[in-house]
Amino acid sequence: MMRRSAFACCLLVIVLIQVESEGALSTDVDIRFSKQLYNVSIPENSVAKTYATQAPGAERMGIHVRSNALSDIRYKIVDGDRDKFFKAEDRLVGDFCFLFIRTRTGNNDVLNRERKDKYVLQVRATATKREGKQKVSFSVDTTVVVTVLDTNDLNPLFYPTEYNATVFEDTPVHQSILKVVAEDADLGRNGEIYYSFAEETDKFAIHPMSGVISLSRPLRYNEGTYHELTVLGQDRGALFRQGSGMVSKAKVRIRVKKVNFHAPEIRIRRHPQIVENSNADIYAIVNVSDKDSGVHGEIKSLEIVDGDPDGHFRIRPTKQKGEFNIEVLKLLDRETTPQGYTLKLRAVDRGVPPRESYKSVPVHLTDLNDNAPVFNKEMYEVKVPETAPVNTPLIRLKVTDADEGRNAQVFLEIPHGLGDRPRQRRHKKTVFR
Ligand SMILES: *[C@@H]1O[C@H](CO)[C@@H](O)[C@H](O)[C@H]1NC(C)=O
Ligand SMILES: *[C@@H]1O[C@H](CO)[C@@H](O)[C@H](O)[C@H]1NC(C)=O
Ligand SMILES: *[C@@H]1O[C@H](CO)[C@@H](O)[C@H](O)[C@H]1NC(C)=O
Repeated sequence: MMRRSAFACCLLVIVLIQVESEGALSTDVDIRFSKQLYNVSIPENSVAKTYATQAPGAERMGIHVRSNALSDIRYKIVDGDRDKFFKAEDRLVGDFCFLFIRTRTGNNDVLNRERKDKYVLQVRATATKREGKQKVSFSVDTTVVVTVLDTNDLNPLFYPTEYNATVFEDTPVHQSILKVVAEDADLGRNGEIYYSFAEETDKFAIHPMSGVISLSRPLRYNEGTYHELTVLGQDRGALFRQGSGMVSKAKVRIRVKKVNFHAPEIRIRRHPQIVENSNADIYAIVNVSDKDSGVHGEIKSLEIVDGDPDGHFRIRPTKQKGEFNIEVLKLLDRETTPQGYTLKLRAVDRGVPPRESYKSVPVHLTDLNDNAPVFNKEMYEVKVPETAPVNTPLIRLKVTDADEGRNAQVFLEIPHGLGDRPRQRRHKKTVFR
């Protein structure tokens, strides 16, 4: 109350000054706005000649005209409208001179709530009074606060408008891939954004509120290495007004990255026995293949990683892709390695990350009869009584042979010319080791 009366006094001073400046003497002029401050609102983007409105039940804007002598009240915006959006209009209805605030014509710019949501206009009323032959002007000011109302004018703006992602083909279903972000400067429900795909897709899903894109079907590199999606951002306001076209778009590119699914497969194609001491250099042919395609399916190496401590073997690639020879480098001796060899092979592919596999290759050496039988003594002495009957066992000879199988079978005979009546007997003796 205090403030209001102070303001009124102030106005009175202004009026007096005005009167004095016009050189008039009148003091009984009562020109006063119904309020010192009005609140009005107007939608943004309003076309020219759109009138600002007051809240229902608000005090009507304008000046009550009490004196008939007072005529010709004019309103003018004197401050707060730098961009010249508004115009003040007067309309006399009975004894009340209404003040209207409307948008101007001829302004190329429009009200934009996102840019400026409130204008505080200083409106001056000027009235003229005839005093005899003199015309005297009076003026008084009021404040009109214009609130610019939101209309759903802004499309949701994606930022950024392009998204790239690289996804491994073994990415689990439902895993999120990326998130699109749109910002809407509108307020309230108009500002809630609803995301969707422009095209139908069964591979991807987008969460309507969060904008998170996730996988809805397993990706297969062989079924497509690249997916392009258009994401629509619609604010929820637009959803309630069909076909209003308040949609903005973002582009999403998804590249599928191959996964190194398979380890190489090792196959031994020829697997002969080797005769010891032979110089047969190729022991076996190894075929290494990999079910993956591209770099993941290329074979980087095949090596012997175990079972050949003395380096009797080596592996050499042949001219055929994926084919390797196991070669014999040194003479093999069955007698020193009677159990043969068990080579452990490792194949590695060029995938990222690489995969490897192992295979054991048993190497059996076949015997060469490279060892002579050996008696356990060089000379045997036997004493035989004269009375010994025929066929009496005289001595047990021990003969060994380092070879194997038939090569180790030993036959004994007494050569001709020993004794006066040579008797030949054939013994078959197998030496077991
Ligand atoms: C105008 O609006 C302001 C802010 O909302 C409020 O404080 C004030 O009371 C209102 N005045 C009138 C006259 O409605
Ligand atoms: C996404 O990929 C496209 C096509 O390869 C490229 O032109 C664009 O610059 C990329 N965008 C970003 C944000 O990396
Ligand atoms: C290796 O084995 C695969 C599968 O059996 C076959 O397709 C390929 O031709 C073989 N490669 C060589 C070099 O033998």
